[in-house]
Amino acid sequence: MGAACFPAPPAPHSTDDGRPIVKDRPRRPKSGPAAPVKAPVKAYVQKAPAAKASAPKKEPRPAPETPARPLMRREGDKPAERVPVILETAGSDQYRLIDSGAGEKLEQYGPYRIVRPEAQALWQRSLPDSVWDKADALFTGDTDEDGMGRWKFPKVLLGETWPMQLLGVDFHGRFTAFRHVGVFPEQLAHWSWMKEKVETAGRPLKVLNLFGYTGVASLVAASAGAEVTHVDASRKAIGWARENQTLGRMDKLPIRWICEDAMKFIQREERRGSKYDIILADPPKFGRGPNGEVWHLFDHLPLMLDICREILSPKAIGLVLTAYSIRASFYSIHELMRETMRGAGGTVESGELVIRESGPDGRNAGRALSTSLFSRWISA
Ligand SMILES: C[S@@+](CC[C@H](N)C(=O)[O-])C[C@H]1O[C@@H](n2cnc3c(N)ncnc32)[C@H](O)[C@@H]1O
Repeated sequence: MGAACFPAPPAPHSTDDGRPIVKDRPRRPKSGPAAPVKAPVKAYVQKAPAAKASAPKKEPRPAPETPARPLMRREGDKPAERVPVILETAGSDQYRLIDSGAGEKLEQYGPYRIVRPEAQALWQRSLPDSVWDKADALFTGDTDEDGMGRWKFPKVLLGETWPMQLLGVDFHGRFTAFRHVGVFPEQLAHWSWMKEKVETAGRPLKVLNLFGYTGVASLVAASAGAEVTHVDASRKAIGWARENQTLGRMDKLPIRWICEDAMKFIQREERRGSKYDIILADPPKFGRGPNGEVWHLFDHLPLMLDICREILSPKAIGLVLTAYSIRASFYSIHELMRETMRGAGGTVESGELVIRESGPDGRNAGRALSTSLFSRWISA
């Protein structure tokens, strides 16, 4: 029996081909946003990280504040609505949910069977212990969504990464310290939708992937023909995304990798007058930008969507929001999305992303495991 936690790879400053990871810089605005209204909104300000009690006596340098603009008052009819919409990810040869129950899930990721905590799995396991006991990797420890823990490898000690492919894109599955494995397979429902839109648009679409993590969505969009801007606060995650790009020999695809606080980035894009045809936003409940900027979903989501609306192009295709582990109904983000998209036409559809159990061989449809809430505005 082996057990291991993996150290983070060194933070890359430039890519294999010498291109730097983009640190996006402010530019002079091209055009200003529409007239704001005086609506209460919690200021989105850059905060300096709190000094630790035991830290050496060095005054923390206060970070400059990024003033948030007020929310717009949106006029016009709300978009049509479709609720509830349950987007289901079924099993494939590369990924499937084999079974779940008793607070855990058993999944196949490429060659490996992996057991992880799953708070939604209140029911009993369908399959016998003899199947679960054959797992290649188990995550033990904190059962919180982002809790720390460690990986155990009951058969043989495995490496940190392994090759996988979804929607024609190569990437690394990865044992991370936060029990995640480098991809959120339920996002396949959004990614297939986006791929189809990009492939059938008849023009090169501009896609913005906010909170983009290991970049699989960015690679799917770029390989379908989009020009992609990928934003994530984690230098490590951007490094993994670049590794995925290289693994799939996609280095020439037009992707800007930007290590920045998502809110700061979109505020600047708004001031610049930049526009995107599709925006994906997959924010955590709580996160930090690279300079200690604080992201709180309940405080900052309304302004984030408001700004995203402003940077949608006149012929925009969609704005897709996913929300994990929050105490809210999909109606919360659905109604927010409809208010934000007043006057834009189209439809807002909202509900849950679920993964269907499909058994050891992928042939036996079982229970639906809920993973997250989503709301998306689609132009048609
Ligand atoms: C749930 S993951 C996104 C998963 C991704 N959409 C996917 O399916 O592959 C959340 C990501 O948000 C990033 N993040 C957290 N706070 C952030 C912030 N303030 N600005 C930008 N990215 C942030 C984290 O580094 C992490 O990669």
